[in-house]
Amino acid sequence: MTVTEILQFVDSLVFSETEQHLDDLQKKIVEQVFKGKTYKQIADIYDYDEGYIGDECRKLFKILSEQLGEDIKKSNFVSTIERLKITSSPLIIHTNSNHSKQNNNHTFNFCIPSLNNSNNNQEKNLNAKSKSVYHDLTLAPQIINFYNRETELETLSNWIVNQNSRLISVLGISGIGKTALVKRFIDLNLDQFEVIIWKSLKYPKPLEVLVQDLLNIIKSEEKQTIEDQFKQLLDLLIEKKCLIILDDVQNIFTPGEFAGQYQPEYHSYQNFLTLITETQHQSSLILISQEQCGEMECLDEELYSVKCLKLSGLYDSQILNHKGLGNGESWLTLINLYEGNPSYLKSIAILIKNIFDGDVAEFLAENELVITQEMRSHFNQLYNRLSPIEQQIVLKFSQFEQPLSRETLRETVELSSTDLINGLQSLQKRYLVTKVKEDKTMFKLSSVLREYLEN
Ligand SMILES: Nc1ncnc2c1ncn2[C@@H]1O[C@H](COP(=O)(O)OP(=O)(O)OP(=O)(O)O)[C@@H](O)[C@H]1O
Ligand SMILES: [Mg+2]
Repeated sequence: MTVTEILQFVDSLVFSETEQHLDDLQKKIVEQVFKGKTYKQIADIYDYDEGYIGDECRKLFKILSEQLGEDIKKSNFVSTIERLKITSSPLIIHTNSNHSKQNNNHTFNFCIPSLNNSNNNQEKNLNAKSKSVYHDLTLAPQIINFYNRETELETLSNWIVNQNSRLISVLGISGIGKTALVKRFIDLNLDQFEVIIWKSLKYPKPLEVLVQDLLNIIKSEEKQTIEDQFKQLLDLLIEKKCLIILDDVQNIFTPGEFAGQYQPEYHSYQNFLTLITETQHQSSLILISQEQCGEMECLDEELYSVKCLKLSGLYDSQILNHKGLGNGESWLTLINLYEGNPSYLKSIAILIKNIFDGDVAEFLAENELVITQEMRSHFNQLYNRLSPIEQQIVLKFSQFEQPLSRETLRETVELSSTDLINGLQSLQKRYLVTKVKEDKTMFKLSSVLREYLEN
């Protein structure tokens, strides 16, 4: 048996027990156990704790034992699976002539083995789940370590799986974990969708090209007008339960202007988003963006099918696991200093490892919010995207340590009241300024950005 066959076989067993496919770590574990590796060796390869790998293995073996009616352990895993697989009927592979041309790199059609020794219920269960699927996650990142965000995952699941919301935006400052969260949600909910397509707008393309790209998946013929293309895409969204993800959406907005203003060549995305929201279908579109636009605004969660999830910092010390750092008791202080931003933390962890030999306490004793070179170049880009009015406001913010009221800003910055109000709103839509409720409403600039601006 090949590793792929073992993986398919184990995946189908796990799926029928848990209704979830193997996640990335479980796949790796199966692969390495099949190769005869010890828990310690697997932990070393993927930079995990040995105990954690052992626990994950035992959980997996427990599921397999229940499914197969035999006691599966590490020592008999391969031999038992091989013995059972040999006596099982061949894989049922559902092929579809429309899809078969383009299956490179994509996952087509679940393969569901039917076991000789499985009970009838299990078989029924498996057959009920057997439908043709198209999953294109080639452009999505692979998530190896993912911590926390349980509430956010539950919210997404509630909106998308239970409520069938049509447009969901996942928003937040760069590096906060938007892409990772959405990918994790997909890994956990693969079986809920017949079609999953992940597209990135890092290098944005005209809407016509994107829609044609999406349509190529189901139909090969080119449609003439954008209206025809929209119609076809809507038919797909009605007919199948699809999940389409557009990552890095901020790139279709105009640099140097207030947040969320479409560039002229991408203006048709606005109509597209409205169409997705206002038409009846069974599918969902997830937008991942550093900037919020009007179409992502959720006025009444109960009433409308538009939802928006704003990600804030991840204040969980696990985020610093496997980064070669010591002084676990100081990790939360470091995380607070860098506003729970996993990207900033990754960057500073590398610096602490290189310069302070991983000693977090020694780094903190310097009493400085160090901006790494990586952060600096990121903030340079971010600053250049701001409108001149926003640049003026953030520079003013950087002169004060405390949150500021609108009145204080109004007195100190040379802007009309309208410009100041619009500028503040735009900075909020980029998640650079947040509102803090004290006796009166105050505004606070991200302290890491403030440190960058001060220098
Ligand atoms: N919950 C998490 N657990 C572990 N690592 C995480 C988590 N969230 C994010 N990360 C890691 O932090 C880094 C930044 O995350 P991610 O790329 O998802 O940010 P982003 O918000 O999409 O940023 P950008 O807007 O720049 O694309 C990645 O290396 C990611 O793997
Ligand atoms: Mg991202």
